[in-house]
Amino acid sequence: MRGFTLCLVSFLVIFGSWFQSVSSQNVTKSDIQQAAFPPRGWNSYDAFSWIISEEEFLQNAELVSQRLLAHGYEYVVVDYLWYRKKVPGAHSNSLGFDVIDQWGRMAPDPVRWPSSKSGNGFTEIAKKVHSLGLKFGIHIMAGISTQAVNANTPILDTTTGAAYQESGRVWHAKDIAIQERRCGWMTNGFMSVNTTLGAGKAFLRSLHEQYAAWGVDLVKHDCVFGEDLDLNEITYASEVLSKVNRPLLYSLSPGVKATPDMAKQVSGLVNMYRIAGDDWDVWGDVKSHFNVSRDMAAANLIGAKGLKGNSWPDLDMLPFGWLTDAAVNDGPHRSCRLTLEEQRTQMTLWAMAKSPLMYGGDVRKIDNATYEIITNPTLLEINHFSSNNKEFPYVTKNETRNQVKEIRSKEAPIQSVEGVSSADISSWIATGRKGEVYLAFFNLSEQKTPIYAHRSDLSKAFTGKRIRSCKGQELWSGKYVATKKGSISTDVGVHGCALFVLNCK
Ligand SMILES: *[C@@H]1O[C@H](CO)[C@@H](O)[C@H](O)[C@H]1NC(C)=O
Ligand SMILES: *[C@@H]1O[C@H](CO)[C@@H](O)[C@H](O)[C@H]1NC(C)=O
Ligand SMILES: *[C@@H]1O[C@H](CO)[C@@H](O)[C@H](O)[C@H]1NC(C)=O
Ligand SMILES: *[C@@H]1O[C@H](CO)[C@@H](O)[C@H](O)[C@H]1NC(C)=O
Ligand SMILES: *[C@@H]1O[C@H](CO)[C@@H](O)[C@H](O)[C@H]1NC(C)=O
Ligand SMILES: *[C@@H]1O[C@H](CO)[C@@H](O)[C@H](O)[C@H]1NC(C)=O
Repeated sequence: MRGFTLCLVSFLVIFGSWFQSVSSQNVTKSDIQQAAFPPRGWNSYDAFSWIISEEEFLQNAELVSQRLLAHGYEYVVVDYLWYRKKVPGAHSNSLGFDVIDQWGRMAPDPVRWPSSKSGNGFTEIAKKVHSLGLKFGIHIMAGISTQAVNANTPILDTTTGAAYQESGRVWHAKDIAIQERRCGWMTNGFMSVNTTLGAGKAFLRSLHEQYAAWGVDLVKHDCVFGEDLDLNEITYASEVLSKVNRPLLYSLSPGVKATPDMAKQVSGLVNMYRIAGDDWDVWGDVKSHFNVSRDMAAANLIGAKGLKGNSWPDLDMLPFGWLTDAAVNDGPHRSCRLTLEEQRTQMTLWAMAKSPLMYGGDVRKIDNATYEIITNPTLLEINHFSSNNKEFPYVTKNETRNQVKEIRSKEAPIQSVEGVSSADISSWIATGRKGEVYLAFFNLSEQKTPIYAHRSDLSKAFTGKRIRSCKGQELWSGKYVATKKGSISTDVGVHGCALFVLNCK
């Protein structure tokens, strides 16, 4: 494994310099590898639910450009229901308040998005975002809206610019909608489309080609994965997006009940996919990501081949700072409820598991502590450049090696989130690009205990390399550490973590 890792690293180094040398020549934009690293950016959902306006979005984008872009946060993403009018009666599962065009496609609400007037869609927003040096993303729902089905709009054939015809007739929304397959969590809003029909494909093509024409750089496709898996729609959307002659990332959401087997079905078609439900600022949500990310890592899904590049299991946004609540008709009005320790734990796991990092708080009110966590240089280095990332299942609460109770088996079966965890400590390990060892300890329990990692077990994590001793530093305390009696150990506070950056011999 170790030899393989070194090979992979040198391959990346060689590939990286080759890439730089040709990028100054004529590389067609479609040759650029998509999502070579886990994507990073900002998303409007955690702070604005669905009600964000153009002004609020651009204010946040400007600050992302000024303060976060230098740390790799480059995407700004409008989350759901940008087409819904913010008027009395409208909410996250209302019907009949959406702006749709003559072909049944969603259009931004011109009151909230004034630049979208006269059929511009998101073109002007995309231009402004690009002028800030950023990339623009939008959230979209599965299939077709109930409103378009009720209006029975005709379907646009983008190859002719006219209504789609087949077998001597014009096709409409009702011909392609699968009425019995509604989005599970937005039953009034959207339903699947029959992709075996030419008209069903034409409709999906008319959506994705329009997003590309608007200048969108990332599509976050919702209600098609996890418990709402619709492999047909994902496959066809991926095919349409793959033909766009510039980088356009394809992201799936959410991933309730996602398993490694399910992930393997989509990883090659997309660039990132959620592997859990929505993550909010409660400890149970942070904790619920440990096992699923361990299982995705064990299945070699981190950085696997994806759509025109790589794909990444996505642990969801970072709901830190100034926020709102799930699915409300209200903007940011409260602070994050996680303790500082819990936020560090979340950020450390997201880094060690190489998750995409999408900050969710209102950037206009970001506090220093939050800013420091999300821009921590060591964590961002690990998130992009570490390799061999996996759970380290051998940590113990007892110094005595022969008393070791391995708290997790290597090939642990998927556990349901409902199950009460018996394991109250966890650990992850990865290799840095200079050969350093990153070792994270997590205390998931409600009581203070020391955590130990034994030298002989570190050797197991890097099969074939015998480790005699390690020394280095712990990130949060700055303390220097070294193996003592063959192990590395520290006390870790409730819900907290320790992250060692080690040189091992
Ligand atoms: C790059 O493209 C330009 C214009 O299309 C062409 O003149 C030039 O020869 C190309 N250079 C290379 C290295 O292919
Ligand atoms: C999709 O359309 C095909 C072809 O008409 C049909 O056989 C099939 O039953 C439809 N699928 C659903 C789920 O309606
Ligand atoms: C936040 O950081 C800035 C820049 O480092 C500093 O000027 C400011 O005083 C800090 N604010 C607080 C509340 O610590
Ligand atoms: C650690 O193991 C030793 C040897 O079995 C035992 O005596 C001791 O009580 C254990 N300590 C803890 C904290 O469990
Ligand atoms: C995580 O997995 C471990 C080992 O398989 C198990 O003991 C624990 O209960 C799981 N935790 C949760 C929250 O499912
Ligand atoms: C977890 O934190 C609690 C509370 O501070 C502490 O009592 C316990 O020892 C910690 N556990 C570990 C494994 O560090």
